[in-house]
Formats: sequence, C-alpha cells, structure tokens
Amino acid sequence: MSDQQKSQVSAATPTAKVGAVYEPTEYVRQQSWIDSMAVYEDLYKQSITDPEKFWGEQAQQFLHWEEPWSEVLDWSFGDDLHINWFKGGKTNVSYNCIDRHLHDGRRNKAALIWESDERRSKVYTYQSLYTRVCRLANVLKSHGVGKGDVVAIYLPMVPELAFAMLACARIGAIHAIVFSGFSAQALRDRIQASGAKVLITADNGMRGGRLNPIKAQADEALLECPEVEKVIVVSRTQQQVNMEPGRDVYYHEEVARKDISRHCEVEWMDADDPLFILYTSGSTGKPKGIVHSTAGYLLGASMTSKYVFDLHDDDVYFCTADIGWVTGHSYIVYGPLSQGATSVMFEGIPTYPDAGRLWDIVERHGVNQLYMAPTAIRSLMRSGNEFPATYDLSSLRILGSVGEPINPAAWEWYYHEIGHERCSIVDTWWQTETGAHMITNLPGITPMKPSSATLPFFGVQPIVMGEDHKEVPVGEDGRLCIKFPWPSMVRHLWDDPGNARFKETYFSTFPGLYFSGDAAMVDEDGYFWLKGRVDDVINVSGHRIGTAEVEASLNSTAGVAESAVVGFPHEIKGEGIYAYIVMKHGVEAGPELSQRLAGAVRRNIGPIAKPDVIHVVNELPKTRSGKIMRRILRKIAAGITDKEQFGDLSTLVDESVVDEIIETRPNK
Ligand code: WTA
Repeated sequence: MSDQQKSQVSAATPTAKVGAVYEPTEYVRQQSWIDSMAVYEDLYKQSITDPEKFWGEQAQQFLHWEEPWSEVLDWSFGDDLHINWFKGGKTNVSYNCIDRHLHDGRRNKAALIWESDERRSKVYTYQSLYTRVCRLANVLKSHGVGKGDVVAIYLPMVPELAFAMLACARIGAIHAIVFSGFSAQALRDRIQASGAKVLITADNGMRGGRLNPIKAQADEALLECPEVEKVIVVSRTQQQVNMEPGRDVYYHEEVARKDISRHCEVEWMDADDPLFILYTSGSTGKPKGIVHSTAGYLLGASMTSKYVFDLHDDDVYFCTADIGWVTGHSYIVYGPLSQGATSVMFEGIPTYPDAGRLWDIVERHGVNQLYMAPTAIRSLMRSGNEFPATYDLSSLRILGSVGEPINPAAWEWYYHEIGHERCSIVDTWWQTETGAHMITNLPGITPMKPSSATLPFFGVQPIVMGEDHKEVPVGEDGRLCIKFPWPSMVRHLWDDPGNARFKETYFSTFPGLYFSGDAAMVDEDGYFWLKGRVDDVINVSGHRIGTAEVEASLNSTAGVAESAVVGFPHEIKGEGIYAYIVMKHGVEAGPELSQRLAGAVRRNIGPIAKPDVIHVVNELPKTRSGKIMRRILRKIAAGITDKEQFGDLSTLVDESVVDEIIETRPNK
C-alpha cells in the first residue's frame, strides 16, 4: 500500500471517499486467529501450490471423519466435468454440528438463540439441540424417509427450521428449503422439481407483526404435488388451519409420540453425498437446483466461519439472513454450529417495531459478530443515527456484509456508526454455488478498502477474464472466474442428466474455468472489486431474481404480448426491477394494468420480484435476428437517454423504437 493511501486512514470521515484504505484496529487483531498478513500470505500460498496437502490437513482439523478418505481431490472442469473431494471418506454433518460438542465441553452451551418477532427469545443448548434433532429425525424415519430421499422445507424463521435441516442431515435425507416468502406456485415448482415426498411447513409465519399464511400457500402448492405423502406442520401461531386427514400431522405431536426415541444414530455419508438442494435463479428458464456435498461443503462453511468471523468460544454470533437463502444455510446453521458457536436466529425484520431492532438484539445478547446485507444497512442508515446511538454496541468486533457490492456510503456508516471505528468490516463475496466465502478480507489483518471484497480466501483461485478469453490487465473490468475447484463448490445440478445444464451454465463461457456471472476488476494491490451481474439476473435487496422468470409471469397476464425486464440502480434495494410491457394488438393498457402485473408476479414468484417500474411501450428494440437489445433497455431504465451512449445500434430492425421508449419513459 502506498504512503498516500495509508495517510487517508487517519483522515477518515463518515463521508464516502474513493480510494480510502482503513487499517484494521489492534482491538480486532490482537485476538484474531490469523494474526498477520504474513501468515495469511503464507497459508494462501500453501493452499494454491499444494491444494491437496493443504485441504487434507484442513479437513482433518475441521471435521470428524468416521472413515478416512483415499483421495483428496479428483476433478475436471473440462468435457468430463466432475468434482470429487475426499473420495472414500465418511462423515455426517449433524454429527459434526451437534454430537461432537456434547463431549468437548460445550454440551450446555447455547447453540441457538432464537429471537422471535415479538421480542421473546429462546435458548437451545447443544444438548437440547441433540434431543430435538434426534426426535425429529426419528419422526422422519417413521414416515419412511431415508438416505437419499428429498425433504422439502417451507418454514418461516422458527427454530424448527434449523432442527429440520439437521434432522435430515442426520439420516442422510437431502433437504430442499424454499424461502417462505416465495408464492404457492414457486413452492409447487420447487417441490415438483426436487421430487420430495415429505414437506415440513408451518401454520403461519410472523414477520414485522404481520401474519404470513404459510399453510394456506402450501396447501395450494400441494394441489399439484400428488407425490407428497406427508406434511409436518409446525404450530407457530396456534391458529386453526386446514389439516388434510392422513396427510398432515402436527410437528409438536409427532416429536412427542411415545414410540419416538430421543436418540438417533447418524447415517455415515460419503463425502460427496448430497447434503441439500437449494434452488437459485439463473439467466434462463427454470430455477437451478444447486446440489451441495456433505464433507466439502461443511469444510468450507466451517473454516470460513472460524476465520472470516473470527469465532471464539464465548462469542455470540448473529447473521440476519433468512435460512431460505444460502447465507442462512452456511452462516446461521452449518458453519457456526460445526464450530460449536452460539448463533442468533432472528424471526423478524430490522425495522419492526422500529429501526432500532437489530441494535436492541446486539445489546441484549451481547453480539460480537453481526452479518447482514447492504440493502438493510442502507435502509437503517436512512432511519438516522439516533437508533444505533441509543444502544450499547460495544460488544461488536466484526461486521459482515454480503449479497451485493456495499457502496462506500453504507460501508462508512456501518464502520463509524455501528462499529465505532473499532470493528473490522468483512465484505464477503460468494454465491449459492460456492457454498462458502470466496473473496473476503480477514478481520484484524487485511487493510480494508470500502466497497472492495479484497482478497481470495484460502484455496480460492480467482481470475478476471476479458471477452477475448484472456486475463484482463490490472484496473480493467472483466468477468470473474475461478480456475481451480474448492471443497464447498456446487457438485452438480439436481435432475440434470449428463451435467448438460451444469456445464452450459458455469463452464462453457470460459472453457476450463468456473464462471461466476459477475463482473469484477482487480486493482494494483490485487484487491477484487465486484461490479454486479453480467447475466440476466437482477440482484434485488441481495436476492437473485431471474429476468426470465419475471417475464414469464408478466407475459401470462391477460392482454400482454411480450415483456422485457431489466435491473436499474435503486437507492435502497441496490437494484430495482424495471419492466417494459408490450400489449397485444388493439388492447389498451388500462389503469389497473400495473396491479394485474404485480399480482401475477406475486402469485408466480412472490412479493420480492414485484416490478418497481412498469413502462408500456409499442415495441421492444430487437436485432434482425429477433433478439431483444437489453443493453439499451438497461441504459434507459438507468435514466440514460442520450443515444450517443448506447453503443452500436446498427443491428436494430428499427431505431425509432428506441426514440419512442425514451420519450414515453415514466418519471421515477
Ligand atoms: C452478489 C449470496 C458483491 C454477486 C451469498 C453474486 C456480492 C450473487 C457479494 C450471489 C459481495 C454476493 N460483493 N457482490 N460481497 N456477495 N454478491 O447466490 O452478484 O444469493 O453472484 O449468494 O450476489 O447471490 P446468492
């Protein structure tokens, strides 16, 4: 780092500055597991010069192995695409997250602290987690669930969600969690695609004081899922809901059954046996079922939890994500619990009953690590400094960010107003597919540059590629790829014979490399700067929304001929959804069109995918080969109306279409 950059550290003010560098504080460094850049650099070097040796040692250190592996890594990113880690080894995720802590002095330690929407909390020790998980695992077994079976889970943020994951893992069943904000139709699609025969759900959810009728949604989905034989219903609000005789049973009654034992032997799994499926949006067609492995996944989640959050035994760790997304899988449940940590699970939202809610949780539980998304940081920042100032935030040591690039203003606010200039902010870049953090600083040691995810984690070999298929020079934008496998990477896609879609999606754009779908730039210090998605995925409030899925919903609305959906910069959400709509010939848009379109999206996907802007146009700009020129639509959505900035328009069938769209652009 240059002297000039260093001098900016002391000059830090709460206003965003480009090029600012912050040295981590001694307060964080003095207890961090990795305590100097030299140690990081040395370990990183080892991890890429002899990955097998490095990962073999880590796997030994981080996981319990019932049987040793015979080969650390067998892989190809080429035509015979395959990724196998720790072949021959046997372990179990539930054992690693629970059983081993019963004998290492943590039996009576809080594993989960559950904070309800109404501000009640419940504490589950490792011992009570064991009993609850074993009972549920036995219930699942009694309903015929065994190794390799898929269990769909559609639950709000109740503790039973974590129990259900660990119960599945215990008996070798594969869980497929569907975010409880998804609609009945989205749930139906995911249940059908996963082939689940059992669903675990709830009567209702509670978020921000509002009731979410989960069971009613599940019932609607199940109308078209005849293969689901059993539905286990968590009673969250104790309200009467429809219970289908013979199919639906109550969770609390099942786990209390006389014939259900409180012990359940674990099923020893092969290292690469699937642990879970998680559906995520891609640029085309239906959501993809990302399949994660048992051992490699857990190794990644566990190791990053320890080093990136610098987890120590008496820390209280709090990730605000929903378990319906990968962040909750890896960093509420599997990573922290495998480390024997105390993980806070929050049912509600950061703004209920007011914008002090998270700070209240930090104060009451003495939270040391807080992990959240920039969109939430921005919305809390907008609520003013009085909220965080009212609470004692002095327990905080590490502040994490995930889901999208964190803009400098939000970074500075987080650093100054929440971290009081003592904490390290870890900006963690990763994806559903990567399973665990990939590019991130380490607390206490890596100099931080607001908005940069900084440097690769151990074993991660990123490379930024140009369209000419060559690595781009320092300072230039390109596409972020990974050259070498890492243990927690996606193994395959569910129901994808011959790996066809897997290859096409991740390994065809740059043959021999995993392509992330993100744009990035590397600076002169080797720091990575993430620049957003380059495919047709919109990152709305840190959630991946596929434009194809939104368009399919819009196109199903009466009177709509076609549509095109793009992202545009949004102050709070990061990106908003901008929908261009073409009506069928002779059909008037009508005043209720927006509502009908929003309704269709809510029904097909869920409220998170609702368009922010609807723009009815006569025609979409298309090339002679019939492709929609999204590049232009993105520019117009972003408020750029100067055609000089649109690039080459010569392949358009009719340039006047673009003029019409610019003229009719609604005021946002
Ligand atoms: C984006 C969430 C910049 C990125 C863990 C990625 C980020 C997508 C960051 C994955 C970050 C996530 N900086 N961008 N720190 N973290 N992203 O699968 O575009 O829901 O490809 O996983 O989020 O989203 P996903």
